[in-house]
Amino acid sequence: MSLVTNDYKLKIIELKKKRGATILAHNYQRPEVQDIADYVGDSLGLSTNAARTEQETIVFCGVHFMAETASIICPDKVVLIPDLEAGCSLASTIDGAQLKKWKSEHADAVVVSYVNTSAEIKAMSDYCCTSSNAVKVVNSIPKDRKVLFLPDMFLGAYVADVTKRKNMFIWPGECHVHAGIRAEDVNRMLSKFKDADFLIHPECGCTSSSLYHSSNGDILKRPYVLSTEGMMNHAKASNASKYVIATEVGILHRMTKENPSKTFIPIKEDAICKYMKMITLEKVYDSLTKNIYRVKVPQKIADRARLAIDRMLQLN
Ligand code: 13P
Ligand code: SF4
Repeated sequence: MSLVTNDYKLKIIELKKKRGATILAHNYQRPEVQDIADYVGDSLGLSTNAARTEQETIVFCGVHFMAETASIICPDKVVLIPDLEAGCSLASTIDGAQLKKWKSEHADAVVVSYVNTSAEIKAMSDYCCTSSNAVKVVNSIPKDRKVLFLPDMFLGAYVADVTKRKNMFIWPGECHVHAGIRAEDVNRMLSKFKDADFLIHPECGCTSSSLYHSSNGDILKRPYVLSTEGMMNHAKASNASKYVIATEVGILHRMTKENPSKTFIPIKEDAICKYMKMITLEKVYDSLTKNIYRVKVPQKIADRARLAIDRMLQLN
């Protein structure tokens, strides 16, 4: 660890105590950012932790829609994101006008939005969901109601497959990182690491095909389709000594740290989310000292979006 990195770490730890701030970090954050966080987790865990914290200020080390979600859940807290440019290629595949049009084409449908969406989209939705509860949310909707699922087509296809729902319409959005993880990558890695557990994020371009091929016996191991926190839990509980990980590589830091005797192999070394990596220690330090950048969702939008999030949280 360089002196500069260590210096920043110490200053941030001191400053967050002085300011009464809590630092939340997503599993894809840079290792050094994860190390100074009070809580590291997936989208759902970050939301529930934001709701629980007693601190006045939340420094959100993740992407913009996640900080917005924290601001919706905790309207009285100061939510800061260290870089406003930290967006999400998946969240930006749908805007309010597009959803309005889609809803008008399916007037009686229930709208389920993945958490990777703007506050505006959540406010126009009936339910929010994350990768760890999408199946549960869709299963809670009466079978005869049409469902509009957005914005991730791979997660949508997976949910439709598991729930056996025929009346689900799926928005054709994708995450540039996960869409790039293809069936060829799975086959190559699974033939190389035959004894490894295979953990796959449902946003991956290969999720449905991997499940299909495993049920046909074309690939040796059945994949575990999990959110990032689900992957962490699996890595801890399983007896396997090796794991092939199909998601953003940032998660390997925590996996290795918490399971030092096990080996974690990324399915693709270059599965890197440039938005997640925009948050650096220097920016976290600036955020705490200059009170930047405040994420505040307008009350009218926040009140409507909160209903969709609350409906999801009630199911957990
Ligand atoms: P998780 O909710 O599984 O952490 O996923 C969030 C995300 O952005 C995946 O790309
Ligand atoms: Fe968005 Fe993909 Fe980055 Fe997750 S990995 S934050 S879905 S761009």
